[in-house]
Amino acid sequence: MAKNIFRKELKDLKPYIPGKPVEKVMEEYGLTEVVKLASNENPLGPSKLAIEAIINEAPRVNIYPDPSVEIVKEKLMQKHGFPREQIVVGNGGEEIIKMIAMTFINEGDEAVMQDPTFSLYDITISHMGGVSKKIPLVDFETDLDAMIDAINEKTKLVYLCNPNNPIGNIVSKDKLDNFVDKIPEDVVLVLDEAYFEYASRNIEYPDGLEVLKRRPNTIVLRTFAKIAGLAGLRIGYAFSSEEIITEMAKTKGVFNVNRIAQVAAAAAMGDDEHIKNTVDLNYESIGYMVDYFESKGLRYVKTSANFIFADLGIDSKQTFVDLQKKGMIMRPGFIWGYETWARISSGSMEDTKKFMTALDEIIG
Ligand SMILES: Cc1ncc(COP(=O)(O)O)c(C=O)c1O
Repeated sequence: MAKNIFRKELKDLKPYIPGKPVEKVMEEYGLTEVVKLASNENPLGPSKLAIEAIINEAPRVNIYPDPSVEIVKEKLMQKHGFPREQIVVGNGGEEIIKMIAMTFINEGDEAVMQDPTFSLYDITISHMGGVSKKIPLVDFETDLDAMIDAINEKTKLVYLCNPNNPIGNIVSKDKLDNFVDKIPEDVVLVLDEAYFEYASRNIEYPDGLEVLKRRPNTIVLRTFAKIAGLAGLRIGYAFSSEEIITEMAKTKGVFNVNRIAQVAAAAAMGDDEHIKNTVDLNYESIGYMVDYFESKGLRYVKTSANFIFADLGIDSKQTFVDLQKKGMIMRPGFIWGYETWARISSGSMEDTKKFMTALDEIIG
């Protein structure tokens, strides 16, 4: 029998399912225009300051980037008051999530997480031979008590995606504080705040960095992909204790963040107006969708992110196809086990209206 050359965990590893690219839908259905509300991207595009920085940096891409990404760390230090030793920058939040699994998980170690939640936690844990303890949501809310009950001596990590992707709702500050108090000190709490700036408009939304201040075994993850409109450049970051950041940094790619991404992210952090406009537009777009769902008597979950989870009342697999024929892309709920639901990202008002019109033609 031929020798199995692959890491044994790869056999059952389910790959991440990304949102369907615009180009693919155009080709498949012979369309010239497609509205993609599927990957929680920023409809405003990147900040003008970021674009300027990208253009200025272009002639220097023959030079390797700074492996410690100082230009971004400096800005994060100024903004959040944590020293550089407590910050790591990654090739997207995605790389940070990989680093976490590589840093903590030995074979058989366990990680507790919501279900559904961002699937890369499970994928990276499984890749390292760990076991994901997936705790079902109860009426779309995170079951914090069940998550605590799932912690045992094998538990290394507890993930809390807040707001939770794909649902969009949050765990409030009071509930988080209570939850944190019950997690054993030697279990690492990962607070994924990829949608932090959007969620901060909700007064009940907690700031994970406050948790880190009193609980060193905490990792707070954020990204420039959404709010800064830099999804295509791949740059995200995390704060933790100096000890954890030192170990995590050993697992990262050496030159993991390219020169263009570094200057763009640093510039984007200085553009408060772009950030404000992004969040304003998000809630205008979401508001439009909510009005539609209300008018049709359709269920949805109150969101604090740049997407909304709604029950369209019809088969999501079929609706996904029907919408594509009309040049519209969303994320069908069946991939998370919600057959008639969909996750729809916020968009420009023009795209939001086009999308809802197309959806209405299908729903009838
Ligand atoms: C909850 C959550 N965490 C992390 C990420 C990863 O972000 P990035 O695009 O920076 O890799 C995403 C992206 O969709 C996300 O939704």
